[in-house]
Amino acid sequence: MSKDELSKKIRALLKERNGILLAHFYQRDEVQELADFTGDSLGLSFEAAKTGADVIVFAGVHFMAESASILSPDKTVLLPRAEAGCALADTITVEALEKEKKKYPGAAVVTYINSSAAVKAASDICCTSANAVRVVQSVEEKRVLFIPDGNLARYTAKFTDKEIIPWGGACPVHQDLTPEEVLAVRARHPGAKFAAHPECREEVLALADFVGSTSGIIDYAGKMSGNELIFGTELGILYQLRTRYPAKTFIPASEKMICETMKLTTLEDILKALTAMAPAVKVPEAIRAPAKRCLDRMLTVG
Ligand code: 13P
Ligand code: SF4
Repeated sequence: MSKDELSKKIRALLKERNGILLAHFYQRDEVQELADFTGDSLGLSFEAAKTGADVIVFAGVHFMAESASILSPDKTVLLPRAEAGCALADTITVEALEKEKKKYPGAAVVTYINSSAAVKAASDICCTSANAVRVVQSVEEKRVLFIPDGNLARYTAKFTDKEIIPWGGACPVHQDLTPEEVLAVRARHPGAKFAAHPECREEVLALADFVGSTSGIIDYAGKMSGNELIFGTELGILYQLRTRYPAKTFIPASEKMICETMKLTTLEDILKALTAMAPAVKVPEAIRAPAKRCLDRMLTVG
Protein backbone atom coordinates (compact mmCIF):
# COMPACT_ATOMS: atom_id res chain seq x y z
CA MET A 1 0.00 0.00 0.00
CA SER A 2 1.32 3.48 -0.79
CA LYS A 3 2.00 6.05 1.94
CA ASP A 4 -1.05 8.06 0.80
CA GLU A 5 -3.35 5.04 0.93
CA LEU A 6 -2.09 4.07 4.37
CA SER A 7 -2.51 7.63 5.64
CA LYS A 8 -6.06 7.83 4.28
CA LYS A 9 -7.05 4.54 5.92
CA ILE A 10 -5.53 5.58 9.24
CA ARG A 11 -7.33 8.94 9.12
CA ALA A 12 -10.66 7.22 8.34
CA LEU A 13 -10.22 4.76 11.24
CA LEU A 14 -9.20 7.53 13.63
CA LYS A 15 -12.40 9.37 12.72
CA GLU A 16 -14.56 6.26 13.07
CA ARG A 17 -13.12 5.42 16.49
CA ASN A 18 -12.88 9.02 17.74
CA GLY A 19 -9.13 8.55 18.02
CA ILE A 20 -6.11 10.80 18.12
CA LEU A 21 -2.57 10.05 16.93
CA LEU A 22 0.21 11.40 19.18
CA ALA A 23 3.81 11.19 17.99
CA HIS A 24 7.13 11.97 19.65
CA PHE A 25 9.70 14.08 17.76
CA TYR A 26 11.93 11.00 17.32
CA GLN A 27 9.36 9.10 15.28
CA ARG A 28 9.76 8.41 11.55
CA ASP A 29 9.02 11.42 9.30
CA GLU A 30 5.84 9.94 7.81
CA VAL A 31 4.45 9.19 11.29
CA GLN A 32 5.14 12.74 12.52
CA GLU A 33 3.60 14.10 9.31
CA LEU A 34 0.35 12.24 9.91
CA ALA A 35 0.08 12.85 13.67
CA ASP A 36 -2.59 15.09 15.22
CA PHE A 37 -0.03 16.25 17.73
CA THR A 38 3.75 15.96 17.86
CA GLY A 39 5.68 16.92 20.96
CA ASP A 40 8.30 16.31 23.59
CA SER A 41 7.47 14.15 26.62
CA LEU A 42 5.96 17.06 28.53
CA GLY A 43 3.81 18.29 25.63
CA LEU A 44 2.58 14.77 24.89
CA SER A 45 1.64 14.28 28.58
CA PHE A 46 -0.42 17.47 28.57
CA GLU A 47 -2.12 16.42 25.33
CA ALA A 48 -2.90 12.92 26.66
CA ALA A 49 -4.35 14.47 29.83
CA LYS A 50 -6.68 16.89 28.05
CA THR A 51 -7.81 15.10 24.89
CA GLY A 52 -11.51 14.37 24.43
CA ALA A 53 -10.74 11.39 22.15
CA ASP A 54 -11.78 7.85 23.10
CA VAL A 55 -8.68 6.24 21.63
CA ILE A 56 -5.08 7.47 21.90
CA VAL A 57 -2.65 5.92 19.43
CA PHE A 58 0.79 6.55 20.85
CA ALA A 59 3.60 6.62 18.33
CA GLY A 60 6.41 6.60 20.87
CA VAL A 61 7.80 4.21 23.45
CA HIS A 62 6.22 2.19 26.25
CA PHE A 63 6.61 4.66 29.14
CA MET A 64 4.86 7.34 27.05
CA ALA A 65 1.85 5.10 26.40
CA GLU A 66 1.82 4.21 30.10
CA SER A 67 1.76 7.91 31.01
CA ALA A 68 -1.22 8.39 28.68
CA SER A 69 -3.00 5.43 30.32
CA ILE A 70 -2.26 6.83 33.80
CA LEU A 71 -3.64 10.25 32.90
CA SER A 72 -6.61 9.01 30.84
CA PRO A 73 -7.68 5.66 32.36
CA ASP A 74 -11.02 5.55 30.56
CA LYS A 75 -9.46 5.82 27.14
CA THR A 76 -7.99 3.02 25.08
CA VAL A 77 -4.27 3.63 24.64
CA LEU A 78 -2.67 1.81 21.73
CA LEU A 79 1.09 1.32 21.39
CA PRO A 80 1.41 -0.01 17.82
CA ARG A 81 4.68 -1.84 18.58
CA ALA A 82 4.35 -3.39 22.03
CA GLU A 83 8.09 -4.05 22.23
CA ALA A 84 9.05 -0.36 21.79
CA GLY A 85 10.76 0.24 25.14
CA CYS A 86 13.26 2.78 26.47
CA ALA A 87 16.74 1.60 27.45
CA LEU A 88 17.04 4.45 29.96
CA ALA A 89 13.74 3.59 31.67
CA ASP A 90 15.00 0.00 31.98
CA THR A 91 17.99 1.09 34.12
CA ILE A 92 15.92 1.17 37.32
CA THR A 93 13.42 -1.16 38.95
CA VAL A 94 11.11 -0.59 41.92
CA GLU A 95 13.27 -2.93 44.04
CA ALA A 96 16.42 -0.96 43.26
CA LEU A 97 14.63 2.32 43.98
CA GLU A 98 13.32 1.06 47.33
CA LYS A 99 16.90 0.10 48.31
CA GLU A 100 18.14 3.56 47.31
CA LYS A 101 15.34 5.23 49.31
CA LYS A 102 16.47 3.34 52.43
CA LYS A 103 19.99 4.74 51.97
CA TYR A 104 18.66 8.32 51.89
CA PRO A 105 15.66 8.54 54.23
CA GLY A 106 13.78 11.83 53.99
CA ALA A 107 15.01 12.61 50.46
CA ALA A 108 12.44 13.51 47.79
CA VAL A 109 12.35 11.17 44.80
CA VAL A 110 12.24 13.12 41.54
CA THR A 111 11.71 10.77 38.63
CA TYR A 112 12.35 11.53 34.99
CA ILE A 113 9.32 10.65 32.90
CA ASN A 114 11.46 8.06 31.04
CA SER A 115 10.61 5.43 33.68
CA SER A 116 8.06 2.67 34.18
CA ALA A 117 4.65 3.33 35.75
CA ALA A 118 5.67 1.15 38.71
CA VAL A 119 8.77 3.28 39.36
CA LYS A 120 6.65 6.45 39.08
CA ALA A 121 4.25 4.96 41.63
CA ALA A 122 7.14 4.65 44.09
CA SER A 123 8.30 8.25 43.48
CA ASP A 124 7.24 11.69 44.77
CA ILE A 125 7.13 13.76 41.59
CA CYS A 126 7.91 13.37 37.90
CA CYS A 127 9.87 15.68 35.66
CA THR A 128 10.86 15.88 32.01
CA SER A 129 13.93 17.46 30.49
CA ALA A 130 11.80 20.58 29.89
CA ASN A 131 10.93 21.20 33.55
CA ALA A 132 13.51 19.34 35.68
CA VAL A 133 14.90 22.47 37.38
CA ARG A 134 11.43 23.85 38.19
CA VAL A 135 10.35 20.47 39.57
CA VAL A 136 13.42 20.09 41.79
CA GLN A 137 12.93 23.64 43.08
CA SER A 138 9.27 22.89 43.82
CA VAL A 139 9.92 20.14 46.39
CA GLU A 140 10.33 21.04 50.06
CA GLU A 141 13.10 18.56 50.79
CA LYS A 142 16.70 19.75 50.59
CA ARG A 143 17.91 16.36 49.40
CA VAL A 144 16.70 14.85 46.11
CA LEU A 145 17.15 11.37 44.70
CA PHE A 146 17.10 12.05 40.97
CA ILE A 147 16.35 8.96 38.87
CA PRO A 148 17.09 7.37 36.44
CA ASP A 149 19.16 9.66 34.17
CA GLY A 150 22.52 10.59 35.73
CA ASN A 151 23.39 13.19 33.07
CA LEU A 152 20.12 15.07 33.50
CA ALA A 153 20.54 14.85 37.29
CA ARG A 154 24.03 16.38 37.18
CA TYR A 155 22.93 19.06 34.72
CA THR A 156 19.91 19.97 36.87
CA ALA A 157 22.14 20.16 39.96
CA LYS A 158 23.95 23.14 38.41
CA PHE A 159 20.80 25.27 38.70
CA THR A 160 19.74 24.49 42.25
CA ASP A 161 21.26 24.55 45.71
CA LYS A 162 19.53 21.29 46.62
CA GLU A 163 21.66 18.23 47.17
CA ILE A 164 21.03 16.01 44.14
CA ILE A 165 21.86 12.32 44.36
CA PRO A 166 21.95 11.00 40.79
CA TRP A 167 21.06 7.45 39.78
CA GLY A 168 23.61 6.01 37.34
CA GLY A 169 21.27 5.42 34.38
CA ALA A 170 21.88 6.83 30.91
CA CYS A 171 20.32 6.79 27.47
CA PRO A 172 22.75 4.94 25.18
CA VAL A 173 21.79 7.12 22.19
CA HIS A 174 22.84 10.33 23.98
CA GLN A 175 25.58 8.86 26.18
CA ASP A 176 27.52 7.68 23.13
CA LEU A 177 27.99 11.19 21.74
CA THR A 178 31.56 12.28 22.58
CA PRO A 179 33.02 15.78 22.92
CA GLU A 180 35.57 14.82 20.24
CA GLU A 181 32.75 14.16 17.74
CA VAL A 182 31.17 17.52 18.56
CA LEU A 183 34.48 19.35 18.21
CA ALA A 184 35.13 17.67 14.84
CA VAL A 185 31.72 18.74 13.48
CA ARG A 186 32.26 22.23 14.89
CA ALA A 187 35.60 22.47 13.11
CA ARG A 188 33.81 21.77 9.81
CA HIS A 189 31.07 24.33 10.61
CA PRO A 190 32.83 27.07 12.58
CA GLY A 191 29.90 29.51 12.51
CA ALA A 192 27.27 27.01 13.67
CA LYS A 193 25.61 27.00 17.08
CA PHE A 194 25.45 23.73 19.04
CA ALA A 195 22.30 22.61 20.89
CA ALA A 196 22.27 19.45 23.01
CA HIS A 197 19.74 17.36 24.89
CA PRO A 198 20.50 17.13 28.66
CA GLU A 199 20.72 13.33 28.39
CA CYS A 200 24.16 13.92 26.79
CA ARG A 201 27.33 13.64 28.90
CA GLU A 202 28.50 16.55 31.01
CA GLU A 203 31.58 17.13 28.76
CA VAL A 204 29.29 17.41 25.71
CA LEU A 205 26.86 19.75 27.47
CA ALA A 206 29.82 21.96 28.42
CA LEU A 207 30.32 22.65 24.69
CA ALA A 208 26.70 23.60 24.01
CA ASP A 209 25.28 27.06 23.26
CA PHE A 210 21.90 25.70 24.31
CA VAL A 211 20.78 22.72 26.40
CA GLY A 212 17.14 21.66 26.42
CA SER A 213 14.41 19.16 25.65
CA THR A 214 13.50 18.32 22.06
CA SER A 215 10.91 21.11 21.95
CA GLY A 216 13.43 23.45 23.59
CA ILE A 217 15.94 22.67 20.83
CA ILE A 218 13.28 23.29 18.15
CA ASP A 219 12.39 26.66 19.72
CA TYR A 220 16.06 27.59 19.98
CA ALA A 221 16.56 26.77 16.28
CA GLY A 222 13.88 29.34 15.44
CA LYS A 223 15.21 32.07 17.72
CA MET A 224 19.00 31.68 17.47
CA SER A 225 21.12 34.18 15.63
CA GLY A 226 22.72 32.60 12.58
CA ASN A 227 21.51 29.98 10.16
CA GLU A 228 23.41 26.83 11.07
CA LEU A 229 22.71 24.51 13.98
CA ILE A 230 24.54 21.37 15.07
CA PHE A 231 22.19 19.30 17.19
CA GLY A 232 23.06 16.66 19.78
CA THR A 233 19.97 14.54 19.95
CA GLU A 234 18.11 11.80 18.07
CA LEU A 235 17.94 12.29 14.29
CA GLY A 236 14.12 12.24 14.16
CA ILE A 237 14.12 15.88 15.31
CA LEU A 238 15.37 16.81 11.81
CA TYR A 239 11.84 16.43 10.44
CA GLN A 240 10.59 19.24 12.68
CA LEU A 241 13.67 21.43 12.19
CA ARG A 242 13.57 21.22 8.39
CA THR A 243 9.80 21.63 8.15
CA ARG A 244 9.66 24.63 10.46
CA TYR A 245 12.83 26.41 9.32
CA PRO A 246 13.50 25.48 5.69
CA ALA A 247 15.95 28.32 5.21
CA LYS A 248 18.27 27.12 7.99
CA THR A 249 20.86 24.33 7.93
CA PHE A 250 20.81 21.54 10.50
CA ILE A 251 23.76 19.26 11.10
CA PRO A 252 23.67 16.16 13.33
CA ALA A 253 26.49 16.05 15.90
CA SER A 254 26.60 12.33 15.10
CA GLU A 255 24.78 10.32 12.42
CA LYS A 256 24.71 7.42 14.93
CA MET A 257 22.14 9.09 17.19
CA ILE A 258 19.22 6.84 16.28
CA CYS A 259 16.88 5.38 18.88
CA GLU A 260 15.98 2.00 17.44
CA THR A 261 12.83 1.54 19.48
CA MET A 262 11.52 4.99 18.52
CA LYS A 263 11.99 4.03 14.88
CA LEU A 264 10.07 0.72 15.10
CA THR A 265 6.61 2.18 14.51
CA THR A 266 5.56 2.32 10.85
CA LEU A 267 2.34 3.53 9.23
CA GLU A 268 1.47 -0.15 8.64
CA ASP A 269 1.78 -0.81 12.39
CA ILE A 270 -0.51 2.11 13.18
CA LEU A 271 -3.12 0.88 10.72
CA LYS A 272 -2.91 -2.67 12.13
CA ALA A 273 -3.24 -1.40 15.71
CA LEU A 274 -6.28 0.72 14.89
CA THR A 275 -7.92 -2.14 13.01
CA ALA A 276 -7.38 -4.70 15.81
CA MET A 277 -7.57 -2.12 18.65
CA ALA A 278 -4.39 -3.78 19.98
CA PRO A 279 -1.78 -3.85 21.40
CA ALA A 280 -3.24 -1.72 24.18
CA VAL A 281 -1.40 -0.43 27.26
CA LYS A 282 -3.38 -0.36 30.48
CA VAL A 283 -1.76 0.42 33.82
CA PRO A 284 -3.35 -1.56 36.69
CA GLU A 285 -5.25 0.64 39.17
CA ALA A 286 -2.99 -0.20 42.14
CA ILE A 287 -0.05 1.32 40.24
CA ARG A 288 -2.03 3.93 38.32
CA ALA A 289 -3.30 5.89 41.34
CA PRO A 290 0.11 6.55 42.98
CA ALA A 291 1.77 7.04 39.56
CA LYS A 292 -0.92 9.61 38.69
CA ARG A 293 -0.17 11.58 41.86
CA CYS A 294 3.45 11.73 40.73
CA LEU A 295 2.52 12.93 37.20
CA ASP A 296 -0.21 15.32 38.40
CA ARG A 297 2.24 16.97 40.77
CA MET A 298 4.53 17.60 37.80
CA LEU A 299 1.73 18.94 35.60
CA THR A 300 0.82 21.52 38.25
CA VAL A 301 4.45 22.72 38.28
CA GLY A 302 4.12 23.17 34.51
P1 13P B 1 12.07 14.95 25.35
O1 13P B 1 11.17 14.98 26.51
O2 13P B 1 13.07 16.07 25.33
O3 13P B 1 11.30 14.92 24.07
O4 13P B 1 12.98 13.63 25.40
C1 13P B 1 12.46 12.35 25.41
C2 13P B 1 13.47 11.35 25.20
O5 13P B 1 13.21 10.17 25.15
C3 13P B 1 14.86 11.81 25.08
O6 13P B 1 15.67 10.77 24.73
FE1 SF4 C 1 14.84 6.17 25.75
FE2 SF4 C 1 17.10 7.19 24.79
FE3 SF4 C 1 15.29 6.27 23.11
FE4 SF4 C 1 14.84 8.54 24.48
S1 SF4 C 1 16.40 8.19 22.91
S2 SF4 C 1 13.40 6.85 24.18
S3 SF4 C 1 15.84 8.06 26.41
S4 SF4 C 1 16.44 5.07 24.64
